[in-house]
Amino acid sequence: MSTTVNVFDPRIYAQGIPHETYRLLRDHHPVRWQEEHEVGDWPAGPGFWAVTRHADVVRVLRSPSEFSSWLGATQIRDPDPADLSFIRRMMLNLDPPDHGRLRRIVSGVFTPRRVERFAAGIATRARLLIDEIAERGECDLPVDVTDDYPIHNLADLLGIPLTDRGQILEWTNRVIGYQDPDHATVERGPDGRPVNPRSPAMLKDMFEYAHALAARKRREPADDLMTALATAEVDGQRLTDPELSMFFFLLVIAGNDTVRSALPGGLVALLGHPGQHRRLLDDPELLDTAVEEMLRWHPPVLSFRRTAVRDVVLAEQPIAAGEKVVVFHGAANFDERRFPDPMRFDIARRPNDHVSFGDGPHVCLGARFARLQLRTFYRELLWRLPDMRLAGPPERLVSNFIGGVKHLPLRYTPAPRLGAA
Ligand code: HEM
Repeated sequence: MSTTVNVFDPRIYAQGIPHETYRLLRDHHPVRWQEEHEVGDWPAGPGFWAVTRHADVVRVLRSPSEFSSWLGATQIRDPDPADLSFIRRMMLNLDPPDHGRLRRIVSGVFTPRRVERFAAGIATRARLLIDEIAERGECDLPVDVTDDYPIHNLADLLGIPLTDRGQILEWTNRVIGYQDPDHATVERGPDGRPVNPRSPAMLKDMFEYAHALAARKRREPADDLMTALATAEVDGQRLTDPELSMFFFLLVIAGNDTVRSALPGGLVALLGHPGQHRRLLDDPELLDTAVEEMLRWHPPVLSFRRTAVRDVVLAEQPIAAGEKVVVFHGAANFDERRFPDPMRFDIARRPNDHVSFGDGPHVCLGARFARLQLRTFYRELLWRLPDMRLAGPPERLVSNFIGGVKHLPLRYTPAPRLGAA
């Protein structure tokens, strides 16, 4: 295979999942060295091992003693060494046993029952947003609908006042969209080099906000997750103020752009398969498995990074201690070794062991909340606008981390309002 095979360049993902390259890698080089070349203003990095088979991805994610989230954190780009201790305060970037302590406290309050309490509000929001576009006969789904939906759902969950929500969106664009020229305003340090958007300097205002919000929740408790987190005690342990602020940051980033990507991305998959679209309209019982297939087909998260703790061998490839190892969710989700006929989009697929929510100790903590939002949204959208079709190609985010969709033109026949004659 050519030495120029590239699954790193963020610009590749603006064309969608690079299926051919992933398949070549899975078949011939399941653990393959990748150059980490310069991209725009961002300098080159040391390179990493790309992991593309389902079984190997799962092994990496389930083996923190071999593949650490803490050593070099979890993004492909190396953090500035000066920022590392700060970034490591986030649960996402911890290994057991430290990770387990935080995860237990948070799972103790982020329970299925608490999530269910938000179901009615989520359904009302979906209905209102779709009402606004239904009569028009056309829309740009992300801009008109789905960019707003998850941020408000998340803000309700966390108890963020309405007036502060625009600011939250700006923060997530800054952190997630920094590789995309439409989202990024690259800040530069004194040396003229871009400042990593996750550095403490870039996030100062967000942490001040989290601090103030937590203090307010302690003073004026409400029925939301920030109040529960600020006051929770598990096994006699509480989150400290810095832990709470860090967790706020993690939720705002992890819980917004992922769902924001999943909604239009899943719809592109469904509408691209008219037979399956029809099948779902005829059999609404298939919605749950359809959502899983949409998540397999369009993984909202494209990659996560680990660092080898010691010399290890993965799929016969020796990896040296300290080297970066990156798993590619979109490659694992289409692995022929795991999924029969993976290029078939099948809304009734069972089993469907996609890794879109990850695996192992860091498996997505918000998966239930995410699935609730996705199911509710599609239930409102698909049957309200049953002849919905693509009116142009999707425009995707330039990112090797989030499979975002920036524009998605849709056309449909305005449906009669419920209750109209
Ligand atoms: C479709 C939507 C979503 C997708 C695809 C997704 C994906 C993921 C993935 C792949 C991980 C694992 C990270 C790793 O391996 O290091 C993760 C972790 C996490 N997710 Fe999600 N996520 C979604 C929605 C959400 C939502 C809505 C929330 C919260 C409201 C959330 C909160 C978290 C948290 C807190 C973690 C870190 C867990 C830990 O470190 O133990 N996610 N997510």
